[in-house]
Amino acid sequence: MITPVLLCGGSGTRLWPLSRKSYPKQFASILGDESLFQASARRFSGEHFADPLLVTADSFRFIVGEQLEKCGLSSRGTLIEPEGRNTAPAAIAAALMLAKSDPQGLMLLVPSDHAISDAQAFRDAVCSGTVAARDGQIVTFGIAADRAETGYGWLESGAETHPSVMELKQFVEKPDRKKAETLLKDKRYLWNAGVFLARVDVMIKAFRTHAPEVLTAVEIALEKATLDLGFTRLDPETWVRVPDISIDYAVMEKAENVSVVRFDGAWSDLGSWEAVWQESPRDEHGNAMTAHATALDCENTLLRSESDEIEIVGIGLKNVVAVAMRDAVMVADISDSQNVKKAVATLKERK
Ligand code: GDD
Ligand code: MG
Repeated sequence: MITPVLLCGGSGTRLWPLSRKSYPKQFASILGDESLFQASARRFSGEHFADPLLVTADSFRFIVGEQLEKCGLSSRGTLIEPEGRNTAPAAIAAALMLAKSDPQGLMLLVPSDHAISDAQAFRDAVCSGTVAARDGQIVTFGIAADRAETGYGWLESGAETHPSVMELKQFVEKPDRKKAETLLKDKRYLWNAGVFLARVDVMIKAFRTHAPEVLTAVEIALEKATLDLGFTRLDPETWVRVPDISIDYAVMEKAENVSVVRFDGAWSDLGSWEAVWQESPRDEHGNAMTAHATALDCENTLLRSESDEIEIVGIGLKNVVAVAMRDAVMVADISDSQNVKKAVATLKERK
């Protein structure tokens, strides 16, 4: 059995105004009826998967429980971070927690805000990594790259070591533009999907070797954790001393026992409104619309009304994204939608 560890504490601003600090994108229904978090939990449930361990912030502890229950799933518990410290502390806290009951079990670290339309194909990819993971590898999942993306990690794949599993020769987290352009030309390089499969003790050992300061601080925060109603609250006083770093920089770029399984299905980390538009069903003119949204003589637009009380109508628009919430409206050229986070920063300054 594989225990999914669902990271659901992030508070992304790139999908503002839908994604908010108090209600980030993973809990919103962006594609289809289920939230991205529900879709992630479902994606890693059923045969081969145990109930997931959730890692989240205090303010989301009830949302995660409610959303899981609504889709008929349950968790094996919730770890609460006093504040976000990026993915390395979240990952090792989960590993230490799982080690209490099954130190040699397999854990699957998964983000809760990705879109993967063919869930079965991804589950198959995960299952094909289990033999290598049992052998002591940390297994990553590689996506064929189609642009010089600087916001992702890149995986240099090598020779096959197990069926469908390749050795990972190099992990390059968030390269600069020039480097990304070079990597794109070399077909051995794949994007890192941000999902990691490993034995719990192997993950802990990787932290002990490459990020001992993160491991030690989190060990103390877990020892001093308080328990209430299935929530494990990491100790806030220790947590302020935990380094703020991602698992990619803390461990993955340095570890030597890393493998990669290629995933050829559709994958998106929904990092911008443009990515949401690409993943959404569109009419013959390339327009994606929610209920209460109408596109007249438009081309390649994304029109979203997030309220039953707001009608949104686009006329003669091209390459535009418009998102209307009850308290905010955002309109942008679709190719500029990465800059939404700038808008959020500007609004914050003004307050
Ligand atoms: N619980 C918790 N606590 N979750 C967190 C925290 C935290 O402090 N910080 C981030 N997360 C969650 C995010 O919500 C997201 O689901 C996941 O962890 C990954 O974090 P991101 O901040 O979105 O990482 P990234 O997109 O910059 O980079 C990672 O993902 C890429 C693919 O989407 C890396 O693994 C890259 O190498 C990878 O290509
Ligand atoms: Mg991300």
